[in-house]
Amino acid sequence: MKKEKYNVAVVGATGAVGEQMREVLEEREFPVGELRLLASERSAGQFLPFRGKEIRVDILTEDSFTGIDIGLFSAGGNVSAKFAPIAVHAGAVVVDNTACFRMDADVPLVVPEVNPKEIANYKNRGIIANPNCSTIQMVVALKPIHDAARIKRVVVSTYQSVSGAGRKAMEELSQQVTALYNGREIEMEKFPHQIAFNCIPHIDAFVDGGYTKEELKMIKEARKILNEPALRITATTVRVPVFCSHSESVNVETEKKLTAADVKAILREAPGVIVADDPENNVYPMAIEATGKDATYVGRIREDDSVTNGLNLWVVADNLRKGAALNAVQIAEILIRDYI
Ligand code: A2P
Repeated sequence: MKKEKYNVAVVGATGAVGEQMREVLEEREFPVGELRLLASERSAGQFLPFRGKEIRVDILTEDSFTGIDIGLFSAGGNVSAKFAPIAVHAGAVVVDNTACFRMDADVPLVVPEVNPKEIANYKNRGIIANPNCSTIQMVVALKPIHDAARIKRVVVSTYQSVSGAGRKAMEELSQQVTALYNGREIEMEKFPHQIAFNCIPHIDAFVDGGYTKEELKMIKEARKILNEPALRITATTVRVPVFCSHSESVNVETEKKLTAADVKAILREAPGVIVADDPENNVYPMAIEATGKDATYVGRIREDDSVTNGLNLWVVADNLRKGAALNAVQIAEILIRDYI
């Protein structure tokens, strides 16, 4: 028999994504029975609001998941590696926002607008992986184009906000801006260089071949989600001094010719997409407008005549919402509607 309410644990509840998890669960009226907020001992004693009540933050331990139906994890890969299997053992299904399980063949990697049926494979390990924030918004825009004209190659460059690196990274940008205006020393901890008034072409660690892990995540995750293991795709990921929402320049080559008008028409019908494309009136997607919104915004839609069947897109979404918390809650909604 179907449950009316589900007990939900948010792991990493005090973080930038954890905060959005609470907001999105409340906004979308997810049928939450108990909400268990979990973080490290640093947060012990904090209370956070949910549906007009203040809920105490508990310290994450091996006993945290008794009676929990769904665990939404966003406290880093090491925490997920240790505690996701413990949560599953206690009877929960885990939606994991870290990179820990994403590329495991038996763990579904899901964007509900793109491959919702994969959620059925949660049964393999009790875990569903939420993709990288930059990957999610890109595939939401690419999937309808792929369905219409088969994508042959993608070249993506990102302009990623500091919130993707967590709450401390947002504080670091604030501190640096204020310090620079007031002639004080800047503090640097989360980024390898000053981020204020700068662009840093380096997100996550460098790996072989000169790519960063973030770039490889975009490449490998897009292939898995689109179920195109041989898709030709390359990425350059850049941190920019924006607080929230990631922007992406996406160059696409398709097998079949699509005009810019075709792409606009296709994307206007696409789930989760809003076309914002009226250059004459200075309308195009921008980070400050996407922040706090659910949609993936696409604009600057143009044909690229430098290749056969080329297209250029500018894709913007709130990385904490569609890129993380919202996508996770959408997965949980399908899970309770169809499976648990
Ligand atoms: P805490 O606030 O107690 O450090 P962000 O991505 O914004 O940096 O947030 C990370 C989240 O993950 C925070 O809620 C943080 O809790 C939590 N977290 C980090 N490390 C651990 C850990 N070892 N155990 C439990 N929660 C953790």
